Amino acid sequence: SATLPTVMAELTDAPNVPAPITRKHAAKVVVKLEVTEVVKKMADGVDYTFWTFGGSVPGKFIRIRQNDEVEFHLMNHPDSKNPHNIDLHAVTGPGGGAASTFTAPGQETVFNFKALNPGLYVYHCATAPVGMHIANGMYGLILVEPEEGLPKVDKEYYVMQGDFYTKGDFGVPGLQPFDMQKALDENPSYVVFNGSVGSLTGDNALTAKVGDNVRLFVGNGGPNLISSFHVIGEIFDRVYAEGGTTVNEHIQTTLVPAGGAAITEFKADVPGNYVLVDHSIFRAFNKGALGMLKVEGNEDKKIYSGQLVQKIYQPEGSTVQEMPKSKAPAAAMASNKDMRLELGKTLYAQNCQACHQAEGQGIKGAFPPLAKSDYLNADVNRAIGVVAHGLEGQIKVNGELYNSTMPKLKLSDEEIANVMTYVMNKWGNKGGEITPAQVGKAKA
Ligand code: HEM
Ligand code: CU
Repeated sequence: SATLPTVMAELTDAPNVPAPITRKHAAKVVVKLEVTEVVKKMADGVDYTFWTFGGSVPGKFIRIRQNDEVEFHLMNHPDSKNPHNIDLHAVTGPGGGAASTFTAPGQETVFNFKALNPGLYVYHCATAPVGMHIANGMYGLILVEPEEGLPKVDKEYYVMQGDFYTKGDFGVPGLQPFDMQKALDENPSYVVFNGSVGSLTGDNALTAKVGDNVRLFVGNGGPNLISSFHVIGEIFDRVYAEGGTTVNEHIQTTLVPAGGAAITEFKADVPGNYVLVDHSIFRAFNKGALGMLKVEGNEDKKIYSGQLVQKIYQPEGSTVQEMPKSKAPAAAMASNKDMRLELGKTLYAQNCQACHQAEGQGIKGAFPPLAKSDYLNADVNRAIGVVAHGLEGQIKVNGELYNSTMPKLKLSDEEIANVMTYVMNKWGNKGGEITPAQVGKAKA
């Protein structure tokens, strides 16, 4: 309406969220969202052609206020190969806007809507085949703040889960095409936060200080899976259930439906690394749905003491167990060191990282380090034997005793050569190239 002041919406890429709205009145908000189809990283060595609202997955975060009147522009980049539209769950009206925004490559459409209901809403593309457009990453969140605003917090982040269906299984390198059959079977190769494996870990981890109140705007684009969203080591003080106004307190895990959202809030009481997961836990540790919040500050030993005792307890002894072989293609053969390093990196992520950790640092008392490991560097052939046959009994690595069991990994000589070449050339280890022939001899 003519009387409302006009403002341009601030749009942000995950994990960032636009600043809280401080105005005390409705406005005409102009949103300009551009669709692009872009090749980006799904995981280390794995690319995918994502279809995006704003250049990345999830789409730009949009933040408005209840009763705002939105002038919504949808632009489809001329380089796109497909038409797209948008269905915003915050819209009351046909298709949530989809009926008015079918936009061919190189075109722009505009429609207006009034935000009648406060809440956190998913938006997504609804162009046929709808499932495919969503599976390619066409979703994001729009927050409609209640008129009085949301309570002030110290940190706000944007986290959105999605499931992806690639021809190659998890970790198979290269530019991976969409796999319709896997999508129909609801059998994703990837389940990730914010569009890729590792989007919220390592240098990309979320951060907070002890004492901060943290708010996560959590969405789930699907297309298929329901998320059991959980932060390991935290309890949500408050959850705005399903993104609406009902606040549920003291929640461990909250369901986020496909095409739904939740707002979770908690106080970071003690320092440490808090792991965001879909607690359908194979998705977290084997398909990518894992992120991290690093909290820094002073400890409070009353709330969390840290480990007080650690000693061996093995009433029935230990045995070497067998791990199933990964489904990576047996065909990948390396003919030089560079190829071994590349294939070895993926093999490491698939077969070793769960225990020896991303940087080979291990976990003290449980999994010995491979980084600068004196045990490893003293005798590479012995280490090859460990990978080929498993290991049990006491060993000393960098001055620490380990008395645990490493499973026998069903890897071919070629795969062991590649993963060991990778390990020997990382993290300050002594380098070199290990060949399948050397593996054959060493494990005999
Ligand atoms: C020990 C390599 C996978 C658990 C070792 C050692 C090496 C090694 C070289 C000797 C100690 C050292 O140098 O730190 C690898 C490689 C893997 C792999 C290259 C993947 C291809 C795993 C997995 C697990 C695991 C998946 C856990 C399920 C252990 C444990 C030990 C060990 C517990 C110590 C065993 C003992 O105390 O006797 N590994 N490992 N490893 N690994 Fe692994
Ligand atoms: Cu689309």
